[in-house]
Amino acid sequence: MNRKYRHTVIAANWKMNLLPSKVKAYADELKPLTAQAKWCDIVVCPPFVMLPAVIKAFRSSRISTGAQNLSDKESGAFTGEVSASQLADLGVHYVIIGHSERRRLYGETDSAVNGKIHAALRENLRPIVCVGESEQERETGVTAELVSLQVKTALRDVPAQKMRRIIIAYEPIWAIGTGKTATSEDAGAVCGTIRSVVRSLYGARTARAVSILYGGSMNARNACELLSQPDIDGGLIGGASLSPVDFAAIVDAANQ
Ligand code: 13P
Repeated sequence: MNRKYRHTVIAANWKMNLLPSKVKAYADELKPLTAQAKWCDIVVCPPFVMLPAVIKAFRSSRISTGAQNLSDKESGAFTGEVSASQLADLGVHYVIIGHSERRRLYGETDSAVNGKIHAALRENLRPIVCVGESEQERETGVTAELVSLQVKTALRDVPAQKMRRIIIAYEPIWAIGTGKTATSEDAGAVCGTIRSVVRSLYGARTARAVSILYGGSMNARNACELLSQPDIDGGLIGGASLSPVDFAAIVDAANQ
């Protein structure tokens, strides 16, 4: 982390878990546990159907709400899709874009990710853009090259002043939900590569200001070490975010 230049962000990705009727109890437990976390932006990203409940439950707290996906289209005949303006109108501030589960299971390409980033930025939503390599790609030694390409394609035609709204999350696919984490040095190195890509596209000041998160089996035990890396500015948390106590412990680690 480097708080002098950028925000620390801890975001919960609930994926397709929990229930609308359980949101209030979750929020009532999380809010007091994170009330002192002044140095850390906290975001909770539930499934679409739970967004209104999450916004309501965290109103008058420091915790913001994010969606897990959005459409690249503005409006119209796109059954099952949700637009950026619908999210913004509801009071959503962040949106996860290009999660590896969307890429792998639903065929989202780098270019689709780019379209979604533009859609989010048009409505002033803050994209949390996910990139990361598979186990096979890591073994063949193409991680830096692949992640650089993902970042460059995702950011195509994003103007410099909008880049300030973007958060990038490095999530090695082999570490997601597996209990295997990247070593803090490896994760820090890839986050450093991502920052140098941003530097090559937007210059040193913008690169210094962009928050880059790590995601993949992050928990209260490994958070401190991962966050001690200078280029890791926070975390995108899956499994451990489903328990308010476990999630708050990661927020605590980030707030040190
Ligand atoms: P886990 O923390 O469950 O590994 O998930 C990480 C993730 O995919 C967050 O987006």
